[in-house]
Amino acid sequence: MQVKNILILGCGGFIGSHLLDRLLADGSFNIVGWDLSAEKIAGHLNNAKFDFRQSDAFSEEGVPELEKAVQECDVVISLAAICNPSRYNTEAIATIHSNFTHLSKLAEICARTNRWIIHASTSEVYGRTIASYLDGNTYSDPKLYEQIEDETPLIMGPVSNQRWSYACAKQLSERLLYAYHTEEGMPVTMFRPYNFFGPRMDFIPGRNGEGVPRVLACFTTALLDRTPMQLVDGGTARRALLYIDDAVDALFRMVKMPAAAQNQTFNLGSRRNEVSIRELAEMMRTAYAEISGDARYHQHPIQEVTGEEFYGTGYEDCDRRVPDVSKARRLLGWEPQVGLQDTIHNTVRYFYNEFGRTAVEAAE
Ligand code: UGA
Repeated sequence: MQVKNILILGCGGFIGSHLLDRLLADGSFNIVGWDLSAEKIAGHLNNAKFDFRQSDAFSEEGVPELEKAVQECDVVISLAAICNPSRYNTEAIATIHSNFTHLSKLAEICARTNRWIIHASTSEVYGRTIASYLDGNTYSDPKLYEQIEDETPLIMGPVSNQRWSYACAKQLSERLLYAYHTEEGMPVTMFRPYNFFGPRMDFIPGRNGEGVPRVLACFTTALLDRTPMQLVDGGTARRALLYIDDAVDALFRMVKMPAAAQNQTFNLGSRRNEVSIRELAEMMRTAYAEISGDARYHQHPIQEVTGEEFYGTGYEDCDRRVPDVSKARRLLGWEPQVGLQDTIHNTVRYFYNEFGRTAVEAAE
């Protein structure tokens, strides 16, 4: 099978917009894309190989059009979802519907039409590490924290900690897709993103969105506004960052190599890019100082807050996410290329050019 026609749900988001750049640059695909927003993909709207639908694909009127689009494509790439922790415990109903109910409708259509679906799950399905529950945990045994797609247990806190509404909905979506594969033969690929970083991620409150975004945009906003960076629970949680170009390279390989990608779940992350959130705050302010040429940013204030103060009741954190990516290496020939410094510098530079430089120029 060779993919020619692609349907992307959520083509206007962070991952979708970068994937669209790559697929359209290749020139060999016809793409139907759905999103509520066109802001991040404005440059592609006149491309003859791109058919953009700016509406809710899962509304009553949208579903018949969605069914037709699924029938006409070779692969559906499912990226649309609420994926922002500030909403998991405060808008759990919307989070669950966005991440499970909508996906279950899409899965049913794909199964009925026997279409291949590539679905964005999350590294958060692993929840907390086994190590984090052990007294005196030192992470000395990798078996207690490394995450391997088809082996590692998925561990979440109690229902009252609504932080897990998202991870649980994503996990059930994975199980449903897997069941459609085993019982009805639907081809499926799932990927679990590990903190993709890069230009256009999330939004900057007060500039191009409202609410509390993920950590990259939160820290960036603090730097732009010259307010303290808020470090949740001491910044001891650890994340492995993956630059968006590396992430898109993996997705591109899946589209190009259906036989290798189908009926697999892939971790997409870079374990050599692991940082604590405190280290991330320090690296981002250093990068901002270097890029802006304003040395005061080296000492930009970092203020500690509790998870409850920052996110509200029901927040609980993933302590650590360390991906094993040997499956993606073996089957897709994929290896992340971009290191931690470049990941942070390229991203901070984009946001400085987009929002910081103009503020400095206006003040001068
Ligand atoms: C989120 C999603 O839930 C994942 O599904 C998704 O894969 C992931 O983002 C991602 O970007 O790939 P998480 O990493 O917990 O997960 O979200 P972030 O908002 O990026 O938070 C990372 C860490 O920074 C957490 O420990 C959080 O408490 C902390 N944080 C966040 C701060 O210390 N300060 C802030 O201003 C914001």
